[in-house]
Amino acid sequence: MAIKVAVIGMGGIGNTHATCYKENPLAELIAVCDINKQKADDAAEKFGVKAFYSIKDMFEQCPEIEAVSVCTSGYDNGSMHFEPSMMALDAGKHVLVEKPICADIDDARELVAFAARKGLYLGNDLNHYFTDTAARAKQMQNDGKIGQLVYCICKSGFNGWEGDYHGKMSPRWQTPYSHLKAYCAHPFSVMRYFCGDISGVQAFLDKPGVRATAEDPMLSINSIHVKFANGGFGHLISQRGDAAFGYGGWWSYEHAGTRGTFAIENCTEKLLYWNPQQKDASGRPTMMQATLEPEVYDTGIKSFNATFPVRINAWLEDLTNKVPREHIRASGRDALATLEYTFAAIQSYENGGELVVPHKLPALHGDTQFVY
Ligand SMILES: NC(=O)c1ccc[n+]([C@@H]2O[C@H](COP(=O)([O-])OP(=O)(O)OC[C@H]3O[C@@H](n4cnc5c(N)ncnc54)[C@H](O)[C@@H]3O)[C@@H](O)[C@H]2O)c1
Repeated sequence: MAIKVAVIGMGGIGNTHATCYKENPLAELIAVCDINKQKADDAAEKFGVKAFYSIKDMFEQCPEIEAVSVCTSGYDNGSMHFEPSMMALDAGKHVLVEKPICADIDDARELVAFAARKGLYLGNDLNHYFTDTAARAKQMQNDGKIGQLVYCICKSGFNGWEGDYHGKMSPRWQTPYSHLKAYCAHPFSVMRYFCGDISGVQAFLDKPGVRATAEDPMLSINSIHVKFANGGFGHLISQRGDAAFGYGGWWSYEHAGTRGTFAIENCTEKLLYWNPQQKDASGRPTMMQATLEPEVYDTGIKSFNATFPVRINAWLEDLTNKVPREHIRASGRDALATLEYTFAAIQSYENGGELVVPHKLPALHGDTQFVY
């Protein structure tokens, strides 16, 4: 039976979630909720469901709701995630919250712990690796074609130049770490998906002159060097429209292993694979040559929006299949990991680029309902 869902926060992204639910047979959209009456009413009309202006009223009047998407925003694009998510969990609903899981690390830890205590699913919209390109790269890893990590390089953010700068943005971007907190959940989640937990973080943050002159608080240029618990290193470069990214464009990820290297370009679009074990026509290992030609898999999918239905379908599948909570894809704990790395980066930056060990994640204890 389809899972009865509601969406809280009907801005652009809440409407995207609602569209995904409407188009997915695993879900039945019951209601939408926004404290802004116009936004709630517009969405309700568009999707043919009930509008609510308070979460409490929605849960009282629609007790059949089983799961919600929390698509509110706030400063750092996440400060308004905590209360609606806690209210929904308290009312016994599963929660798919947008990223960043919270703007405050204590809130995020509490939210993840509360979901575990309630025995409910808490997922996060870490949609950047819900792609055909990432799935194929993961398969190559699992097939032993990549080997042990040597390094990864992740470049992701927004292309731009100084002429695009139009001054300080809305209040949600008026903190120094707003880009780091709002955006870097995504690249951190991709790095962790392919390389595992991060055990050391060093960060340099800055802003270009045009922002400095405008007294823009946002540290929009982020360079973060990491060490992975399983070995290997990674470098994350992220920026908010201060320059054009050059090689790989707005979203690229390169992952070099002891057996092969892959790269993803434009998130959804291309997967490249360099096989150093190839031999040339004369039987010479190509590894000895200056350049290796990659095998290229081109999905033809250019739109980043293609990630949302795939991620939401995975969430609905996990709920429908009642997978053990510790196995859900892009869980609240996975999102907490990205925020722990973010706060480690902040600490590193504030201490001149010192090496910071991220805070430990909560242990995975499993669920007694899966003990036979
Ligand atoms: N996963 C992605 O790729 C991706 C991309 C962009 C944005 N996002 C995230 O999506 C979220 C929403 O972004 P947006 O641009 O749509 O934001 P938005 O500000 O346009 O919309 C948020 C809405 O939430 C409503 N709201 C706030 N508190 C509420 C409450 N307690 N109850 C009900 N409604 C409430 C606001 O009135 C507003 O209409 C952000 O957290 C952002 O980080 C994710």
